Amino acid sequence: MDESAGGPVSSLYAHVPFCARKCGYCAFYSEPSDGGLRARYVKALIREMESVAPALRPETVFFGGGTPTLLNLRQWEAIFDAMGRLGLLGAAEWTVECNPATLSLDKARLLRSAGVNRASLGVQSLDPQMLERLGRVHTRPMVFDSFDILRRAGFENVNLDLMFAIPGQTVRAWRRTLDEAIALGSEHLSSYEVIYEEDTPLYAELQAGRFAVDEDLACAMYEELLERAAQAGLEQYEIANFARPSFACRHNVNYWRAGSFYGLGPSATSYVRGARTRNWSNTRLYCERLEAGKPAVESREELPPLARAGEAAAFGLRLVAGWPFDEFRRTTGHDLRVEWAADMRRLVEQGWGRLSPHRFQLTPAGLRFADSAAQMFLR
Ligand SMILES: C[S@@+](CC[C@H](N)C(=O)[O-])C[C@H]1O[C@@H](n2cnc3c(N)ncnc32)[C@H](O)[C@@H]1O
Ligand code: SF4
Repeated sequence: MDESAGGPVSSLYAHVPFCARKCGYCAFYSEPSDGGLRARYVKALIREMESVAPALRPETVFFGGGTPTLLNLRQWEAIFDAMGRLGLLGAAEWTVECNPATLSLDKARLLRSAGVNRASLGVQSLDPQMLERLGRVHTRPMVFDSFDILRRAGFENVNLDLMFAIPGQTVRAWRRTLDEAIALGSEHLSSYEVIYEEDTPLYAELQAGRFAVDEDLACAMYEELLERAAQAGLEQYEIANFARPSFACRHNVNYWRAGSFYGLGPSATSYVRGARTRNWSNTRLYCERLEAGKPAVESREELPPLARAGEAAAFGLRLVAGWPFDEFRRTTGHDLRVEWAADMRRLVEQGWGRLSPHRFQLTPAGLRFADSAAQMFLR
């Protein structure tokens, strides 16, 4: 039975809220921690898994963070044992985010043997100066070592995360990182323009006028990215995501297509049958709640159907394929050509949208500014 009709949810995210050190730009919930808190977190996560397992049959699993590879071998084994007992193993796509400073061959082999078949490596840059600017814990040689480790452990689906428009980065330096990253021959590439998130040290520097944002330079870097990815056979399927044929990330495509998912761990959100819940962004509190046999949910929101459809429209337009009209109607119960006709027309006139008989999608120019375009679809 399909999940929308009340069957099991097929997508599972687990948030691992630990990092060796916080990067200057990052607003994801994570913190440096001691071994005690990590052990406590693993037990709490397993409890939370037990609570949702009856409603889950994962086709995609994603362990993100934070830094999942900070968990040690014993902790991973405990997670895998629990997943086996709960019938959560065997997903077609199972990703774990890996930080190059925290990956050993033993750990990579253990992950692979449990069924993890996709690794996402947080490279960000191959330029030592940029790595330092970003406050990364890893070095350039660690990237090459960890990529090699992943291949030796049998990972045939590897993503590399890069960032561009880093303060102080030149187009030339970006080109060098791109070329070297692409030469590794990964199956997938994610490449994000730096976002200045409030409450981060990088944002504070920007506010203090220590550097300025150069939009033209960022555009030139994005153009460079599109060109080099295409030359290398990495097809763009989302604003920031590129893949070899059949290697698009199924788990993330489900988000963009407004599918349901369970999110476990501190700060994680779930979206199940139209209701969005969010866990506490506090690892100690998260553990206390689960130890007391209570859910770790901080908030719950259920949007009216039209608002939900508007969000779905906005998310899905991030995909190069845009929204096929029949799929949108199946997913949301609404028709893009009815409620959003004027918005689509406006985007077409602006050169940001393309309307064909069966779908609406953003043009390359529109994709560059997808966040502004998407705003128009919210209700
Ligand atoms: C949640 S992070 C987790 C990856 C892993 N912890 C690591 O950094 O090695 C996923 C990716 O989001 C991107 N990211 C995080 N914060 C960002 C920001 N402020 N602007 C742009 N990209 C960001 C980075 O490329 C990062 O690899
Ligand atoms: S970017 Fe990754 S490693 Fe850096 S603080 Fe964020 S989650 Fe941690």
